[in-house]
Amino acid sequence: MDKEQSQDMTLTNRQGHPISDNQNIRTIGSSGPSTLENYHYIEKISHFDRERIPERVVHARGAGAHGYFEAYGKVGNEPVSTYTRAKLFQEQGKRTPVFVRFSTVVHGGHSPETLRDPRGFATKFYTEDGNWDLVGNNLKIFFIRDPLKFPDMVHAFKPDPVTNLQNPERMFDFVSNSPEATHMITFLFSPWGIPANYRQMQGSGVNTYKWVNKEGAAVLVKYHWEPIRQAIKNLTQQEAEAIQAKNTSHATQDLYEAIAGGDYPEWELCVQIISDDEHPELDFDPLDPTKLWDHEQFPFLPVGKMVLNQNPENYFAEVEQAAFGTGVLVDGLDFSDDKLLQGRTFSYSDTQRHRVGTNYLQLPINAPKTHVATNQRDGQMAFVVDRAPGQNPHVNYEPSSLGGLQEAVPSGKEHQPAYNAKLVREKISRTNDFKQAGDTYRKFEDWERDELIANLVDALKISDPIIQKKMIEHFTMADPDYGRRVAEGLAQAQVDGKHISSDSARAGASLADQSGQRTD
Ligand code: HEM
Repeated sequence: MDKEQSQDMTLTNRQGHPISDNQNIRTIGSSGPSTLENYHYIEKISHFDRERIPERVVHARGAGAHGYFEAYGKVGNEPVSTYTRAKLFQEQGKRTPVFVRFSTVVHGGHSPETLRDPRGFATKFYTEDGNWDLVGNNLKIFFIRDPLKFPDMVHAFKPDPVTNLQNPERMFDFVSNSPEATHMITFLFSPWGIPANYRQMQGSGVNTYKWVNKEGAAVLVKYHWEPIRQAIKNLTQQEAEAIQAKNTSHATQDLYEAIAGGDYPEWELCVQIISDDEHPELDFDPLDPTKLWDHEQFPFLPVGKMVLNQNPENYFAEVEQAAFGTGVLVDGLDFSDDKLLQGRTFSYSDTQRHRVGTNYLQLPINAPKTHVATNQRDGQMAFVVDRAPGQNPHVNYEPSSLGGLQEAVPSGKEHQPAYNAKLVREKISRTNDFKQAGDTYRKFEDWERDELIANLVDALKISDPIIQKKMIEHFTMADPDYGRRVAEGLAQAQVDGKHISSDSARAGASLADQSGQRTD
């Protein structure tokens, strides 16, 4: 665009026609009727009619920012190449551009950012080897370990299909029949379930991945983001309600204003590494996403840091249309056999083809900032032919001897895990659903435990007694004190006459919870 053009502020339509009247549609006489050839009006209004795309089925409410990742070149005291050949990590000081989207999970696009909910922490690294997405949450574990349960879990957590009200009874109905969720519920109902904002929280890849070196040898890794410049901060229920009464977008605002004011948030990326085997010495399965890897036994090893220093220029184009997925790995990074991870990996790009469109990877926010040359063509909204500059345009297939694309030369040996097992539908053997929940309960500070019990009692007291009983059993299995305190709290709530059992009263209590009033 030359200078003269860039200073031309004339309004046009998308055909480049200058618009001289943007106030009045064309009518027969000043009071109408209107004519059908109102091209400018029809174009403008029909585009407006299509401004929204489907929102994400989960994690609809989000905020994003651009920045960079800077590698340390080492993992602990060892060269990172011992474990992975991924190029972005190798060289100390090497910078890779990133885009991060933070989010809440359950509710829609404009829901309050103060709700008790995991927070999403999804990072897109635009590496020289193509994109890597690390699609994580603030909490380090998850509710379930089998992806087949995900749609049911989300249905139970989202609003009731009849009343359109979120109802804790539905959520605890699912959770009380899914004992593996006890650990996650323990975090979620503690102050860790409401981070103060997006800057002052941790992030975690949750699932177990692999790192692969030049020889094709793999280790198991977990990824964690630790805030560097900003302290970790969570909110009590009461603090969250006070914020929510005045501001339903406090986390978006906090992130935007911090970056606009030059106070750039930073996180260190740490990995936990263990050998790629079943680890029979552990009392849990290292591929189970409901479990923590104890950080004293498996230390957090820093591999680089991330700085977010640029706000989006357009929320829709960047934050809303951003598409992250767990399948998006670069050479040197690999999947583990974690079932949840494998289930996720299908789901993300599947939903994005529906949510954003077939050619979602051609949008600037999703396109790699490196060489892209495919034989994929056409489809809705295709606007680039991603062919190599020297590619024969007639050859949109491979193999070919007529100047088509060639397969890449492998950068190292392929990691080739071997399997000798039956095809089954079975739970993992080391489920151990309660031990770590108890450890986490005991590690909390007193005020965190007090909050946890109060929040659980508040949410559970409107549930059917059978659900309460199952939940108390699970908490007792985790720690007898945990179960006793929830049971006592529920008994007290009943004595106080706060136990409400009719359907309408439950819906009412749920509504009150959402509007920020405590029901106790
Ligand atoms: C978003 C599926 C578990 C973190 C999504 C979306 C789907 C999905 C369909 C919407 C994506 C989009 O429209 O672009 C699943 C399935 C899971 C699962 C099937 C389990 C079987 C998890 C876990 C985590 C997680 C364990 C945390 C580690 C996220 C994040 C987003 C997201 C952060 C938002 C990404 C963004 O900002 O665009 N998930 N998810 N999900 N999920 Fe999951």
